[in-house]
Amino acid sequence: MKHDLVIKGGTCVTASEMFNGDLGITDGRIAALGEGLHGKYVIDATGKLVMPGGIEAHAHIAQNSATGGMTADDYTSGSISAAFGGNSCIIPFAAQHRGMGVTETLDLYDSRASGASVLDYSYHLIVSDPSEVVLTKELPDAFRRGITSFKLFMTYDKMLVNDAQFLDVLSVAKEHGALTMVHAENAGMIKWMTDRLLARGLKEPKYHALSHPALAEEEAIHRAICMAKLVDAPLLIVHVSTPEGAALVQKARQQGAKIYGETCPQYLFLTRNDMDRPDMQGAAFMCSPPLRDAATQTALWQHIQSGTFDVVSSDHSPYRMDDTGKLAHGMDAPFTVIANGMPGIGARLPLLFSEGVGKGRISLPEFVALSSTNAARLYGLLPKKGTLAVGADADIAIWDPNKRGRISADNQHDNAGYSAFEGWEVTGLPVTVLSRGIRVIDGGALHAQAGHGQFLARAKFEHSGRKGYLAPELDPTQNFGVNIAP
Ligand code: URP
Ligand code: ZN
Ligand code: ZN
Repeated sequence: MKHDLVIKGGTCVTASEMFNGDLGITDGRIAALGEGLHGKYVIDATGKLVMPGGIEAHAHIAQNSATGGMTADDYTSGSISAAFGGNSCIIPFAAQHRGMGVTETLDLYDSRASGASVLDYSYHLIVSDPSEVVLTKELPDAFRRGITSFKLFMTYDKMLVNDAQFLDVLSVAKEHGALTMVHAENAGMIKWMTDRLLARGLKEPKYHALSHPALAEEEAIHRAICMAKLVDAPLLIVHVSTPEGAALVQKARQQGAKIYGETCPQYLFLTRNDMDRPDMQGAAFMCSPPLRDAATQTALWQHIQSGTFDVVSSDHSPYRMDDTGKLAHGMDAPFTVIANGMPGIGARLPLLFSEGVGKGRISLPEFVALSSTNAARLYGLLPKKGTLAVGADADIAIWDPNKRGRISADNQHDNAGYSAFEGWEVTGLPVTVLSRGIRVIDGGALHAQAGHGQFLARAKFEHSGRKGYLAPELDPTQNFGVNIAP
C-alpha cells in the first residue's frame, strides 16, 4: 500500500519510548508505523527526531483583558508563532467577563478563531461570573460543546471568584468530567503589598515582582488544593512559580489527590532581576505570578524531574511595548495599570528542548510528555493528538537536534514586537511541522493557510489511577448518613 506521505529514517519519540522506523500517513492520520513503508511523498528524516507536535495549552490569544486591553496576537499570528515553535495544536482561553454569559463568550471566541488559525484549536473557558444560570445550564452546555476545561482566578479584582464560587465550579466540573484550572495567588496579600509600595512612591515595573510575594502563591495553592480535596475534584494549578507552591502540588499528588501542575519557561529561565531596567523596559518582563530568583529556577527543574509538573506551557500573553499594549497608560504609569504577561508561544519548545534535553535535565520522552502528551491527556485530546499511534492525527514535529539558533523577536513570528528571551542560544529546533498530515512549517517557511486549523471538541478528562480524597464530613459512614457530596 502507498501512503499519502511517509516520514522515513527518523528517530520516533513518544512519551514512553524511542524507536527507529517509518511513519505512514494517509488521509491526515497516522496509518502505519513500520519499516520499508511506501508513500506518494517521502520526507527523509535521517538524523532527525520525529515527535508529536507540541500542544500549547496555556496561551492568551485574541483575548480582552479585564482592564480592556487586547492581546497583540490573533488566532492567525498566535497560531503561526506556535507552529514555528514546533506546536501543532493550541488551547488558548475564552474569557467570560462579568456580565457576559458563557454561551455568548464562546460564540465570541468562535467568531475570532474560526477561519483564522493555521493549527487546530480549542479553548479553556475562564469563568469569572458563576451565576446560577452559568452553573446549572451554561457550563453543562459548554461541556457538551467540547469545552472540557474551566479556569478560575483567585486574584485580579475583575476576574476572581470567592471560595464558595470556586467550590461550585469545581463541583459542576467534576459532575461533567471537566478539569478546573486555577490561577492561584492571594488577592488580599497582593493588594496589601501594592498599597505599601505605592504609598512609598515605588511604582516602576520591577516593583510588580514585590507586590506578588511568593507567600501569596503558596497560600492560594494550599487553599485551592484544600477546596479541590473537599469535593474530590481534579484541579490543575497553572503557572506555578515557587518551590513552596510546587511542593504543595507534589505532596497532594503523593497523597493521591487529583491535583496536577504546570510551570512555564519564564520561571525556569528568567528572574526578577530581568525587570530591573530603566524607563519602562522592565514592563516587558511583568507577568503574574511574577519572575522569582535563581534558587527558584533550580527547585522548579527538580520538580520537573520528579514529576510534579505535567506540563510546561508558555502562558503566552502578548502585549506590545507601546500605547496599544503595556504602555497604554503612558511612560509614567504605575505597575498596577500595566498589562500583565509576556509572549513566548514560539520560544517554549526550543528553550525546553535545548535547556532540558540538551543539558541532560530531561529525557526525550519526558520532553514529549511535558510538551504534548500530558496536555492531550489532561485536556481530552488523547489519542487523537499528542502521540504517535496508528489512528492519531498526523500532527508531527520533526526536529533537528543539532540545529542552532538564537531566540529573537525577529524570528518568533508573533505580534508582540519583543521577546523576553531575546538572545538565548538554543541547540535543537523544529524544521518541519505537520498538522493532520499537511505541511504547516517546512524549510523555515509557512505553508498552511489561515483557516486550516479546525475547532476541536474535546472529550472529558480521564483521571483514573488517583484514589482521590473523601472528606469525613462528606462521607455518609461518618457524617450521620447525610448525602451532600457533589
Ligand atoms: O501575567 C500573566 N500571566 N497574564 C496572563 C493572565 C494569566 O494570569 O495567566
Ligand atoms: Zn493566570
Ligand atoms: Zn495565563
